[in-house]
Amino acid sequence: MARLFFLAVLTVVLAFYFNSTASRHIQSTLQSYLQESQTSPQAAPSFTRKIIAVGDLHGDLPNALKVLQMAHVVDAHGNWSGEIDFFVQTGDIIDRGDDTIKLYELMEQLREQAQHSGGKVLSHLGNHEWMNAIGDWRYVYPSEIATFGSVAARQKMLSTGEIGRAWAQNYSTASRLPLHPSIGISNTDYPPAFGVEDKIKHSPLSHAAVSFVHGGLAPTYPHLTPYPSAINALSRSLLHKLQSQSPQPSPHPPNPYPGLPSDTTWEEERMYGTDGPLWYRGWALESDKEVCSSVDGVLEKTGVRRMIMGHTPDFQKIVSRCDGKIIIIDTGISHAYGGALSALSIHYTLTPADPTIGRTPVVENHGQKQVWKETEVVTAIYEDRDEVLVYNEREVEGNFAGY
Ligand SMILES: *[C@@H]1O[C@H](CO)[C@@H](O)[C@H](O)[C@H]1NC(C)=O
Ligand SMILES: *[C@@H]1O[C@H](CO)[C@@H](O)[C@H](O)[C@H]1NC(C)=O
Ligand SMILES: *[C@@H]1O[C@H](CO)[C@@H](O)[C@H](O)[C@H]1NC(C)=O
Repeated sequence: MARLFFLAVLTVVLAFYFNSTASRHIQSTLQSYLQESQTSPQAAPSFTRKIIAVGDLHGDLPNALKVLQMAHVVDAHGNWSGEIDFFVQTGDIIDRGDDTIKLYELMEQLREQAQHSGGKVLSHLGNHEWMNAIGDWRYVYPSEIATFGSVAARQKMLSTGEIGRAWAQNYSTASRLPLHPSIGISNTDYPPAFGVEDKIKHSPLSHAAVSFVHGGLAPTYPHLTPYPSAINALSRSLLHKLQSQSPQPSPHPPNPYPGLPSDTTWEEERMYGTDGPLWYRGWALESDKEVCSSVDGVLEKTGVRRMIMGHTPDFQKIVSRCDGKIIIIDTGISHAYGGALSALSIHYTLTPADPTIGRTPVVENHGQKQVWKETEVVTAIYEDRDEVLVYNEREVEGNFAGY
């Protein structure tokens, strides 16, 4: 009887002991697992980048804000949301509407706020910014001139004033945005500079980048490379010549078209020409056969996977051609057109292909090649729906840890 009682007590004690140690063990394992996967970037070295691009805005602040809210670039107050890494605008903020001043102010506010939270705004000059700098004011509403006060005040604001200085400092004509930082920061040239050439050219991510211009990068345009600095150097020098004209040419109309300054070089003139990055429409207007057979040459040269542009509107939708190698994002957002409110989203991720690799500290993998899963999802965002335009997934091998 005593023996039986003893055994019963022993069983309970043992059960309790093992139960508690077992559960403690499970608990602590669970805890450390959760800590590793949640808090330590070393433990899960996957990389994510979110880009939102928006096309022609043409003087319409309310529609611009609707689009930026819809795409989570800004919050309900119109402040930078912090939810994305890059906001790209492809030019033509000015003309056909009255909100010129407010829109350029919004862009500088977002640029500032983005900087403070590790994001970035990339702004581009469209053909309409250039037209206004030249004195070609054919699409300027008298009501818009009134928001500046006078023609002279508007001329000043667009040359040496706040908007003109923002164009010179914070806008470019072309940009190249790497999707992964191992191939450089935004506007890193392709072909790569001497010194890093081998490292970048031989990386499986060498062309993991996208380009943005207002019109398009024509195969016939002679100053594509190094991309984008060749175009942006011409853009900077021509803008400087235009903005430093004193007095500024009298605007057309009613005066005659002033044209480019007399000291404009032929390269600068070509930059503003019909097959230049501001005006070219070939990617939008030519046949699939023609476009898709010539696109790869330009992508290869400029070191990108796809080219994103505005300028040629489709009032219903963002147009994707040749499997998303060409994406045209002007949907006539401004009330001047009444087209679709739209934004383009690019969501890029690079993740260790084997999930167990993710729990190995990066230091142990230093210098070793791993297999990574690369995903790029390009989505058109509208008021009532999202539409996936590109879903690319592939495996790449390399040492991409630590970003
Ligand atoms: C065993 O552990 C569970 C969960 O911790 C607890 O609810 C249960 O009472 C324990 N059993 C014994 C015999 O202590
Ligand atoms: C955000 O917007 C609100 C309302 O316009 C403003 O009061 C606030 O200062 C803004 N926040 C920042 C960080 O700019
Ligand atoms: C250009 O952007 C920087 C960074 O946001 C800002 O400090 C500067 O004032 C801007 N320049 C103009 C002229 O708006």
